[in-house]
Amino acid sequence: MATESTDEAGAESNAEPRTADVLVVGSGIAGCAAALAAARKGEEVLLVTKASEPEDASSDWAQGGIATTRGDPDSLKEDIIDASAGVADPEAVDVLVRNAADAVRDVLIETLGVDFDTLGAEYDFAQEAAHSEDRILHVDAATGQHVLRPFLSHLDEVDNVEILESTAALELLRHEGRVHGALLDTEPDGEPVFAGATVLATGGIGDCFEQSTNPPGSTGDGIAMAFLAGAEVDDMEYVQFHPTAADVEEPFLLSEAVRGEGALLRNADSERFMPDYHADAELAPRDVVARAVQDEIDATGGVTLDVSPLAEPFDKAFPNLAEKCANHGIDPADGIPVAPCEHFLCGGVAVDGHGRATLDRLYAVGECAHTGVHGANRLASTSLLEGLVWGLRAGRDAAGFEPEKIEYQRLQNSDPALPDRFAGEKFHRLRRIVSGELGLRRTKSGINSARGVLRRLKGEVDAYTRTRTSRGLYELRNATVVAILIANAAGENDESVGCHYLVDEAASETESTATATDGD
Ligand code: SIN
Repeated sequence: MATESTDEAGAESNAEPRTADVLVVGSGIAGCAAALAAARKGEEVLLVTKASEPEDASSDWAQGGIATTRGDPDSLKEDIIDASAGVADPEAVDVLVRNAADAVRDVLIETLGVDFDTLGAEYDFAQEAAHSEDRILHVDAATGQHVLRPFLSHLDEVDNVEILESTAALELLRHEGRVHGALLDTEPDGEPVFAGATVLATGGIGDCFEQSTNPPGSTGDGIAMAFLAGAEVDDMEYVQFHPTAADVEEPFLLSEAVRGEGALLRNADSERFMPDYHADAELAPRDVVARAVQDEIDATGGVTLDVSPLAEPFDKAFPNLAEKCANHGIDPADGIPVAPCEHFLCGGVAVDGHGRATLDRLYAVGECAHTGVHGANRLASTSLLEGLVWGLRAGRDAAGFEPEKIEYQRLQNSDPALPDRFAGEKFHRLRRIVSGELGLRRTKSGINSARGVLRRLKGEVDAYTRTRTSRGLYELRNATVVAILIANAAGENDESVGCHYLVDEAASETESTATATDGD
């Protein structure tokens, strides 16, 4: 975003521009935590969100729960680093585990009063894959909504927090290495909000893939805006697939907690296969299980989640998942058909232990941020925790800066109409190449062909964003930028590790050629 000239669209406005001490973009747990922490320091906080309902944020979709330390931070640290294929940054993991208990107690239990499931007088700590002990706090397998909805209600009551729903940030306002707020889509040529500090909390990138467990609208907006403004991004090649999404047209997650309670994976020949892949079988790290499930689907034609070994009947243990199965005509007694599905980006905007990005007064928290905690593969039920801990730390750190009104360049909206089907067709092409070449298994030639296709696509999209500002077009622009960042990072990393899994070129030649010739 250039900042030197004023009002190139020629629009004049007498209204005073909006200002905020802290601007938060995004309304998942990380954005809410940042808003809460800044508000507690007396800051005027403006939280803008594309969401019009809580369920538009991925946090609301989180099932399993929140990993806790149960008095042993080192044990959680070890599990996180092991699951990350050794790539996690130990200092960042330390920040997470040392702050976890206070953050959960202060915000979730004492401030929001989240009623986590109990067994008698104790919390009912659950087990999930690659955890060495039962330590997941949860509410049924619908933890996200039981955390996020009270959080949003709480912020509604905080005087110095204003929430603007159904509002997207399109560009950051940057001048000489410092971010001064953002342009919102509330005016055709972009409404400025000048902020002392700006916190990005825009969530995941599911819309870059044909299928994802993220809510629609997960277009990596914060990552793209930060990158285009000059901030560093890291580890974009590590895109995590969840091993057990229901294998239906619109997949839904079947939480790790189901395997934690004893469910088994079986191939189309009804054989249990995970013990052949890893000593921890169904509870191996997520990247290992996801690839094994895909291998077995390819070899035998399908994989099901066998819930018969659960101690309690499935509909008693996981009522919300039983209901989802029923809505899709699945009878869990027959085994639930599952397949891996894009779930979480381990990389993102590079930040430090306080969520500070590499541009002054810019912060990023939650899934759009790269704290270093997840390395090459995220441990189950650490994303809400990371969003909470970093959201609080960033919100506190972002307090104390005065908003400054800078000169900026308005967006151009001289030709607002888009050709029919433009965004839909481009998204289709984007998802096809990203899912085909940047998914669970990658080849060098597939990655290279994705880079070429995506660069051309970006050129076409840019030609439109020069004169149009529709949200859909900016979402497409953002998804394209993110896809290129994934492809570039994948192309530059020759080490097959964690979620970045490189396969033998010859073995996948046929498959790769089909997508490489994608008709663009
Ligand atoms: C799940 O419930 O399996 C998802 C939890 C997570 O993504 O960490």
